[in-house]
Amino acid sequence: MPYQPMPLRLETARLTLRPWAESDVDNHRALAAERGAGTPSIERSRQVIATQLAAPALTGIALLAVNRRERGDFIGYCGLIVGHSSVDEPEIAYELFRSAHGSGYATEAASAVLDAAITTGRKRLWATVRSWNTPSFRVLEKVGFERDHVSTDDRGELVWLTRSLP
Ligand SMILES: CC(C)(COP(=O)(O)OP(=O)(O)OC[C@H]1O[C@@H](n2cnc3c(N)ncnc32)[C@H](O)[C@@H]1OP(=O)(O)O)[C@@H](O)C(=O)NCCC(=O)NCCS
Repeated sequence: MPYQPMPLRLETARLTLRPWAESDVDNHRALAAERGAGTPSIERSRQVIATQLAAPALTGIALLAVNRRERGDFIGYCGLIVGHSSVDEPEIAYELFRSAHGSGYATEAASAVLDAAITTGRKRLWATVRSWNTPSFRVLEKVGFERDHVSTDDRGELVWLTRSLP
């Protein structure tokens, strides 16, 4: 692989980004439940966590669990995924508990993930956002992404944003 592996532990002023653990099953289930389509089974959440844990060995990138440093509590995840894009030019992704929204945490985590992406040697990242998702657009704007194009899938419009890395 032409890239360095992404660091799997990142510290910011208020947050720690770290690999998922098997003990995050309840965290994962609670976060997924906030999407409004029910709570995933324990088995399903275990599978998702196992997939996240296996990703770095396959792609060199990862979605990381996010904890607040002061309280030590899990608030969500942020990281890089292949998503709709590619291993060379992956997507940034994030999701936080509603109770943690509005404090700048996503911006802080995304900024650390950008720095981590730079250390891998990658030159471009993408993000795909549903057109209604104003908070996500704002996070991406704050960390330097620009709108590129719009595609459509069975869930509607998907806005593609991109950011060059130095
Ligand atoms: C997207 C998400 C991670 C943002 O988390 P967050 O920690 O609240 O984000 P931040 O506080 O860093 O920044 C949010 C920005 O959006 C702004 N914002 C939030 N709601 C808004 C609204 N309805 N209209 C306009 N701006 C809004 C905030 O004011 C803030 O901007 P500011 O710093 O200029 O004031 C969170 O909303 C989330 O988890 N959503 C569900 C999952 C999701 O949509 N993930 C992204 C998929 S592409």
